[in-house]
Amino acid sequence: MTWLYLLPLLAYLLGSVSSAVVIARVMGLRDPRDVGSGNPGATNILRYGGKAAAILTLAGDILKGVIAVLIARALTTDDIVIVLSGFAAFLGHLFPVFFGFRGGKGVATALGVWLALSPPVGLALLGTWVLMAVLFRYSSLSALTASAAAPLYVAWLSPGMPYLVTMVIMSAILIFRHRSNIRNLLAGTETKIGR
Ligand code: G3P
Repeated sequence: MTWLYLLPLLAYLLGSVSSAVVIARVMGLRDPRDVGSGNPGATNILRYGGKAAAILTLAGDILKGVIAVLIARALTTDDIVIVLSGFAAFLGHLFPVFFGFRGGKGVATALGVWLALSPPVGLALLGTWVLMAVLFRYSSLSALTASAAAPLYVAWLSPGMPYLVTMVIMSAILIFRHRSNIRNLLAGTETKIGR
């Protein structure tokens, strides 16, 4: 049914709710897009807003990815619509219609999307991120490693071609969104988690 293709639009709107910006406003903090790395995400909020604000931001960004996929899955069994809804939530986070299209890098929302699309893939991504964060303490390096490994995880664990194609595109976008972090990592100027 064609109306089902409105689900990605709904997911995009959900993804457009920038947890970092909303939580910063509610908690009386500066807009994360004007502070630190300029990224509206948990890592940047942690730098100046503290652990509670960072945890709320992380939870909000993960949850909107999870919810977008679960809503789609509750209303259809069409894999294309479900995967497109997850991808649309991710795009909403990157280019939020409610916040002047100035969004984040998409790591937490991508994690939420994949935890809902394929829990084994989501857990593999989470495990990769945590392992790299424990070893090196760079949020960006953790995200880049998980993004690079992600298509392999989907090829190995997941249910089909639409999922793999989507993950390849999401990984490429995630790595591209981290280009300033890559430059900083290479120059040795990247900030460690919590610094
Ligand atoms: O999830 C974003 C993270 O990988 C990098 O954030 O603020 O260090 O650019 P930031």
